[in-house]
Amino acid sequence: MKIIGTGSAMPSMSVTNDMLSQFLDTSDDWITTRTGIKQRRIITNETLKDLAVTASQKALDNAGIAATDLDFILCSNVINNYVTPALSCIIQGGIDATCPCIDLNGACSGFIYALDIASAYLETGRAENVLIVCAEQPTRLVNWSERNTCVLFGDGAAAVVVSKGDNLKSLLLTTQCKVDALYYQRKMEFNPYVRQSDGDMPLVMNGKDVFKLAVSSSISDIKTVLAKAELDENDISYFLLHQANMRILDSIKDYFKQTEEKFPHNIEKYGNTSSASIPILLDEMNGNNQLHKGDYLLLSAFGAGFTSGACIIQW
Ligand code: COA
Repeated sequence: MKIIGTGSAMPSMSVTNDMLSQFLDTSDDWITTRTGIKQRRIITNETLKDLAVTASQKALDNAGIAATDLDFILCSNVINNYVTPALSCIIQGGIDATCPCIDLNGACSGFIYALDIASAYLETGRAENVLIVCAEQPTRLVNWSERNTCVLFGDGAAAVVVSKGDNLKSLLLTTQCKVDALYYQRKMEFNPYVRQSDGDMPLVMNGKDVFKLAVSSSISDIKTVLAKAELDENDISYFLLHQANMRILDSIKDYFKQTEEKFPHNIEKYGNTSSASIPILLDEMNGNNQLHKGDYLLLSAFGAGFTSGACIIQW
């Protein structure tokens, strides 16, 4: 597998920490020092579909292929207006593609899970070109009167086109059932035969547990993918980590004794955009010509489940 194109699209509305402190008992100082987030983008006038379609079209343009050249579309998404059909089916219509489509929900690790599925399709010859779109709107999962969760998240979409190649050096996925650490339950429709009450509450998160799980699983995943690829941390040009909290990134950076330059971040601008965070960062770096042929990129993500995944891709 190799990545042949990237694209991203962000909502136009930017919300600063000071804007949040107008209706929440919080401050720019608290949010900045505890998370590194200064602002986040929030979907208001546009829709998640608009962002996903724009990101996908940009990735296709960057790859230099047409939507009709796609053999499969995988969309990583946690929440959108439709439970069915899958968001990927809606994106297909937006870009005029004709291939099969499916969504997956690997929470914030969804991009790595999608890369794994895409690489299996490519390896078995079932696809030549796969579009992976990560389209996320976590700002509609949280309770906006709960300061410990709503300040963390932002919306956004990013896409990559992957094609046959030899650039995926190793990949690892892990899942451990730890629902209580981070979950969201939706309200189901009334059914006259069902008596038990449904969960119907915004995102529940045990921040400290998630923090520890994130750091420990990312460190362990990184060690494993390095060993599988027969590389060490100093061979890696950039570590692209899920942008959940700057302190999580710093803990992992310090563990591997790496420099700040090798841990690029944009959490200060966008907050936690769930599975879209790594491909948004990747597209920014690609657009800024920061990535050079031959660079080893180590991607590592973690999220609700508890899911985690990491991989090493040569650019
Ligand atoms: N503004 C001001 N104060 C806040 C606040 C906010 N937005 N959110 C929480 N606080 C308060 C708490 O109420 C608590 O007050 P108390 O000491 O009077 O009880 C205090 O700040 C410390 O809260 P605590 O939860 O201990 O902070 P923390 O250092 O653990 O940081 C998180 C909280 C959420 C930033 C941190 O745990 C975290 O980032 N966890 C991982 C979250 C994550 O990545 N989730 C997504 C994974 S994909």
